[in-house]
Amino acid sequence: MKREQWGSRAGFILAAVGSAIGLGNIWRFPYMAYENGGGAFFIPYLFAMISAGIPFMIMEFTLGHKLRGAAPRAFAKLGGKLEWLGWFQVFIAAVIAVYYVAVIGWAISYLGFSFTQSWGADTNAFFFGEYLQLGDNSPTKLGFLQTHIAFPMILAWGITFAAIFTGVKSGIERASKIMMPLLFIMVLGLITRVLFLPGALDGLNYLFQPDFSKILDAKVWSAAYGQIFFTLSVGFSIMIAYSSYLPEKSDINNNAFMTVLINCGFSITAGVLVFAVLGYMAQEQAKPLTEVVSAGVGLAFVTIPAAINLLPAPYILGPLFFLALVVAGLSSHISIIEAVTSAIIDKLNWTRKKAASVVCGVGFIVSMAFATNGGLLLLDLVDYFINNVALLTSCLIELIVIGWLLKMADIREYANNLSEFSIGKWFEVCIRFLSPAMLALILITNLSNTLSDGYGGYALSDLLLLGWGLIAAMFVAAVVINLTSKPQSQLEG
Ligand code: PHE
Ligand code: NA
Repeated sequence: MKREQWGSRAGFILAAVGSAIGLGNIWRFPYMAYENGGGAFFIPYLFAMISAGIPFMIMEFTLGHKLRGAAPRAFAKLGGKLEWLGWFQVFIAAVIAVYYVAVIGWAISYLGFSFTQSWGADTNAFFFGEYLQLGDNSPTKLGFLQTHIAFPMILAWGITFAAIFTGVKSGIERASKIMMPLLFIMVLGLITRVLFLPGALDGLNYLFQPDFSKILDAKVWSAAYGQIFFTLSVGFSIMIAYSSYLPEKSDINNNAFMTVLINCGFSITAGVLVFAVLGYMAQEQAKPLTEVVSAGVGLAFVTIPAAINLLPAPYILGPLFFLALVVAGLSSHISIIEAVTSAIIDKLNWTRKKAASVVCGVGFIVSMAFATNGGLLLLDLVDYFINNVALLTSCLIELIVIGWLLKMADIREYANNLSEFSIGKWFEVCIRFLSPAMLALILITNLSNTLSDGYGGYALSDLLLLGWGLIAAMFVAAVVINLTSKPQSQLEG
């Protein structure tokens, strides 16, 4: 069977950008920038982008292009029993997929509410109480299925399934070519209106005003690096799968730079959008800005709805915001599911249609755990461990394995031969020394913090089962698959 291919260069870039730009850009980035020194955060962020993001992206595009497989097959082809690393990454993608879709489901619900602002005046009570129906629950005491959350999630799964089932070119690429321009237009439209609101510029001042005392704080650097890996979707099998469908002649360096720069540019734009709105809100309520911002999930589903209540023409700006969130989320969800699906196609030689049906079917059933009363808590706990432990571990191992087992000069030469402009030796320095050193530091800090303090006040048994236990199970399963696997040479076809 001949491997599928992207139809055009723009198609590939839009799909890669679609994966990168997601929920993380719209609510996570603005909040992190705000919390980690405002304007001063941009220095570590841009440093992480150049020293880790761009080299990592070039490396993954090269691996996918050269080895022509989803992560497990690509790593297996490197020899030396590395298939497990690919499966570990695919499992990370699979876990993210089942909770990420819940947030998309919430965004779809809120898109509906936004036409009439039916979330009311107390957006906090509405979100946690009326919408999520969070009561006396825990990550292991989930309560009951909430059909009003399950329903929008089914819709999200339906769209993802349609794109994956239809194939790389006529499904994923076509969806990206509709979704990405739509997203850019919506966000530009929103920004143009919002920047003229009274107080908007105060909001921007807040975001960009540098707090230089934070720049020497290790936590700020850790946040910047963590955000770069998550936002670029590198290190957990997605970009390797997408680049395995690149045509023979593809400008790797240029594609990688474009993907990274468009993504990070979008994040900064989203930061401007969100903070302009918060500045307006602070002014309207005559409160300091710090008092109107709430963290994490709360930013998108509590603070923004409250801000929309105060906006002129809320029935236009509200739906635009939530549709942007839905579109950004869906294009990322498609990429996560494709990473899993393509790994299964490679491994079991199934047709795309069969693999897509099984992956989306199983994924859908598992994801229903997040449509329960305690779904938010389960999501919060799993997301913490996946982001702060599994993902960083996977990125670090990939950097060490590729950087030290392979000849980096060969990878660089491979990419340079295909590309219009060449990258220099700095690439090797970043991949072999700088990025692994930063990652190792962050990972060790995260591990020791989590081991000593736990997380979010959850019970130890919950942390052991859904945090450490889940990651250990993913690791063991990956190793078992690797051990029972035939050498790659027998699989070639
Ligand atoms: N890059 C996406 C974002 O910033 C997140 C993502 C996670 C994408 C997992 C794909 C897979 O939201
Ligand atoms: Na996206």
